[in-house]
Amino acid sequence: MALKMATTLECLACLVSFLAGYAHGDKVFDVTKYAASPDGSAEDNSKAFSNAWNAACQYNRSATLVIPKGTFLVGPIVFKGPCVSNPSPSVQIIGQLKAPSSLATFSGPSWIEFNDLHELVLNGSGIVDGQGADAWNNKTCNKEKKCKNLPMSMRFINIVGGQITDLTLRDSKGFHVDFQQSTSITVSHLNISAPGDSPNTDGIHISRTQNINITNVFISTGDDCISIGPGSINVTISDITCGPGHGISVGSLGKYQNEKNVVGVKVKNCTVFDTTNGLRIKTWPGSPPSEASNITFEDITMNNVSRPIIIDQFYCPIHQCTDQPSRVRIHDVVFRRVTGTTNTPVAVTLSCSSSMPCKNVQLQDIDLNFVSSNATKITSSCLNVEGEASGTQNPNPCV
Ligand SMILES: *[C@@H]1O[C@H](CO)[C@@H](O)[C@H](O)[C@H]1NC(C)=O
Ligand SMILES: *[C@@H]1O[C@H](CO)[C@@H](O)[C@H](O)[C@H]1NC(C)=O
Ligand SMILES: *[C@@H]1O[C@H](CO)[C@@H](O)[C@H](O)[C@H]1NC(C)=O
Ligand SMILES: *[C@@H]1O[C@H](CO)[C@@H](O)[C@H](O)[C@H]1NC(C)=O
Ligand SMILES: *[C@@H]1O[C@H](CO)[C@@H](O)[C@H](O)[C@H]1NC(C)=O
Ligand SMILES: *[C@@H]1O[C@H](CO)[C@@H](O)[C@H](O)[C@H]1NC(C)=O
Ligand SMILES: *[C@@H]1O[C@H](CO)[C@@H](O)[C@H](O)[C@H]1NC(C)=O
Ligand SMILES: *[C@@H]1O[C@H](CO)[C@@H](O)[C@H](O)[C@H]1NC(C)=O
Ligand SMILES: *[C@@H]1O[C@H](CO)[C@@H](O)[C@H](O)[C@H]1NC(C)=O
Repeated sequence: MALKMATTLECLACLVSFLAGYAHGDKVFDVTKYAASPDGSAEDNSKAFSNAWNAACQYNRSATLVIPKGTFLVGPIVFKGPCVSNPSPSVQIIGQLKAPSSLATFSGPSWIEFNDLHELVLNGSGIVDGQGADAWNNKTCNKEKKCKNLPMSMRFINIVGGQITDLTLRDSKGFHVDFQQSTSITVSHLNISAPGDSPNTDGIHISRTQNINITNVFISTGDDCISIGPGSINVTISDITCGPGHGISVGSLGKYQNEKNVVGVKVKNCTVFDTTNGLRIKTWPGSPPSEASNITFEDITMNNVSRPIIIDQFYCPIHQCTDQPSRVRIHDVVFRRVTGTTNTPVAVTLSCSSSMPCKNVQLQDIDLNFVSSNATKITSSCLNVEGEASGTQNPNPCV
């Protein structure tokens, strides 16, 4: 009798969660049941979020942490694993999360961090608002770029298997999304935006991460839409709309000692508009040895981009670099079917290192025009690069 009763209750619970749209059998941990307040009050909900997460993480079957409708002010928080069950709890963000606007609450590099989790599903129609404006305007840490990096809105560290979908992220203080030391990740249908003049607000940054696919993402920020840092392996990026911002970049590479190589990057079917760079590989002068190879950009539409195609081994945004050459060896790079418009006369720049010339850089079917008039002649510029050009070539290639 007791057994039957329990079963009925359990079925009732699963029916309720089924009707609420959660995966069948998942137990729901709703942050408002842990005293989070959804009314946007100045109260910091981090403690309530942690309590709800800890309960979900300790639960021995499938669990979903739900942030329901409402506006939640929440300080820095870590969704830390490992959890009891594998897959780790899913996280559904339906409401809006707001970061404290003051930097005083932040002692580390992240606002919302997911750490040491397996098969993480993170989705929802919610908004993740970093409220970065005050931090960007903080004069001690503005465009000098010498200052400490500002907190990143969402960091994923040590995630093995992850699906991150549907969210809107806006106005992060630092990078919007950052992946570190993770494997087998898909990211899709995100909408990431911050003003075009907000400093270092990269859309998605990847490093020491392998097998990651990013697709159908709209990114408009003050820095790189996507930056692919050291140790990125097998990265596929497709159907991205990027602009304004600094474009899609491999790098920067070679800033630190012992960086891992970047191998296998494919960027395809993207639209880039009103950005300073389009498709870029950037490495610092004087960098220690490493490699960036097997990198393909294809089917890219440019619209009013300042430097649509650029390899820059003299990258030095802080204006105080050594005059030693970069030792990042760049090879096997393809730019294929890149079309559209540029707003500067040098549309293709391949500036490689004198100590490590770029090898096998392929330009195939490049068709770029000046944005406001076909009468303005556009050109290419090459330094220390070996490669080939084939198919349509506008501007005239220098390889
Ligand atoms: C979000 O993830 C949950 C798993 O927690 C899944 O049941 C649901 O279908 C997903 N929703 C969307 C819109 O993908
Ligand atoms: C989960 O925990 C409950 C209560 O501690 C226990 O009765 C149950 O057997 C556990 N289930 C699994 C799948 O480990
Ligand atoms: C990424 O995409 C590639 C090619 O479409 C596919 O082979 C691979 O399995 C995908 N990886 C992940 C983690 O989704
Ligand atoms: C992305 O979000 C911004 C507001 O945050 C909105 O203006 C824009 O229309 C959205 N773009 C897409 C493609 O959903
Ligand atoms: C990269 O992807 C290829 C093809 O999908 C696969 O054979 C290789 O093992 C992957 N490399 C790593 C390090 O996962
Ligand atoms: C290319 O990307 C756009 C969105 O940016 C998408 O609508 C279209 O279906 C994609 N085309 C192909 C061939 O994948
Ligand atoms: C090149 O990179 C792609 C992913 O972009 C990967 O599938 C392929 O295996 C890589 N090839 C080599 C030789 O590394
Ligand atoms: C081109 O992009 C710049 C930003 O780089 C922007 O200020 C300008 O309005 C854009 N021009 C056109 C014609 O869209
Ligand atoms: C430049 O020429 C291309 C075709 O070659 C055309 O599509 C484009 O509209 C022209 N641009 C201007 C600004 O006239």
